[in-house]
Amino acid sequence: MAKAQPIRLDYNNMTADLLDNQGFSKEQISNTLKQAKQAHTQVEAKRGQGMQGWMNIISPKDEVVASLLAAAKEIRQKFDYFVVLGIGGSALGPLAAFQALCHFRHNELPKAKRRAPKFYVEENIDPERMASLLDVIDIKKTMFNVISKSGSTSETMSQYLIIIDILKRELGEKAKEHIIVTTSKTSGSLIKIAEKEGFKAFYIPDGVGGRFSQLSPVGLLPAAVLRVDIKGLLAGAIYMDKRCKNANERNPALVNAALSYLSIKNGKNISVIMPYADSLRLMGDWYCQLWGESLGKARNNKGEVVNVGQTPVGALGVTDQHSQVQLYAEGPYDKVITFIEVENYRKEVVISAGLQDVPSVNFLCGHTLNELIKAELHATEYALTKSGKLNRKIILPMVNAHTLGQLLMFFMLETAYMGALLNIDAFNQPGVEEGKNAAYALLGRPGYQEKARALAQAAAKKEQYII
Ligand code: PA5
Repeated sequence: MAKAQPIRLDYNNMTADLLDNQGFSKEQISNTLKQAKQAHTQVEAKRGQGMQGWMNIISPKDEVVASLLAAAKEIRQKFDYFVVLGIGGSALGPLAAFQALCHFRHNELPKAKRRAPKFYVEENIDPERMASLLDVIDIKKTMFNVISKSGSTSETMSQYLIIIDILKRELGEKAKEHIIVTTSKTSGSLIKIAEKEGFKAFYIPDGVGGRFSQLSPVGLLPAAVLRVDIKGLLAGAIYMDKRCKNANERNPALVNAALSYLSIKNGKNISVIMPYADSLRLMGDWYCQLWGESLGKARNNKGEVVNVGQTPVGALGVTDQHSQVQLYAEGPYDKVITFIEVENYRKEVVISAGLQDVPSVNFLCGHTLNELIKAELHATEYALTKSGKLNRKIILPMVNAHTLGQLLMFFMLETAYMGALLNIDAFNQPGVEEGKNAAYALLGRPGYQEKARALAQAAAKKEQYII
């Protein structure tokens, strides 16, 4: 097996050594690391328990991997389209892996080059979007993967109802061959529906919440269908997990958590994630959900009102250098910017010669886009540091299944450590549930009458404020 390429954390520009005034001193960092080490002990003590089931990473040799690969092969043979119906954690992980590890124009490639079905993730219920999907797929050649841990999320279940109705009308008995569900084995309506209808099912272990589920069948089945090296993805996650087993200064997720915690304590309420790679842009979206939903909490573990959290913002290098970076450089000192650097892009593109008589452009000729994007990252790091803005960098030797697995695990572990540091439950989402329940009540779901009454009693909006 090829030697693993570790991802690295460069936090120079978070330290007082390099960042005048705003950087953290050695003492601040080492004191916070002491707290982080206790957080590590707490997280490790609950490894695999409760909602920390995601820490039991599936072994690449596990039989579930073999059955996912077998199902994926069959899907590739029989179907031209693979559509995920899911939302939140049931969509963002599959999307992130697809963008990172598949061809940029996957769906536009001819079939022979694509070597996998066209891929769509329907993570919203905008009626125009659903109608447009039906315009571009041939439902008779489509496999739908309905992903819902709870099996009752209104958005996903509405999509399911629409699709199964069409499938049954068009295909009768054979409709069931076009649906695979990924859900909890032990709870929720979707597993019951699957059993009744005879759908194939993969299971999400009980202790794995939506945003921590990319390394479960939620993310692994779509990835396997797309020929992503899912064993490499899991091996990368296991590799990072091993690097983070000890509570010391070499544990990258722990050091990053300590720096994030210090940042929050110093009023940096915004966390910008800025990959310099289009392939990682949706990893940014996945991170935003993980960070926002896990750490944004009203109460701590003692029940006290704390209203903590750090607002995650996704940006893309270099594109956002021409929009957001003005704010990051000169706006308030309320952010930490985390760049993601890719050392070796999978392609090299040379900038052609041709403008010798225009020196202000000609200097680019002969360089590569690879050099240009790296120079721009370097320049932005320099500019932000010069203006006293906290920034750090996660370095990927290259984007592949192994490094992506490492990155996923890095962020999940950092989030867990942060939950312990902030003394909050990083694994629940009462704010999301509140909205879900209100939507159930508004649409008349049985059992939600009380919530419907509360909604009816809520203060009515005033016309005078709608102009
Ligand atoms: O992270 C989470 O738990 C949420 O974002 C869920 O993934 C999302 O609400 C969808 O839930 P479910 O998978 O139960 O349909």
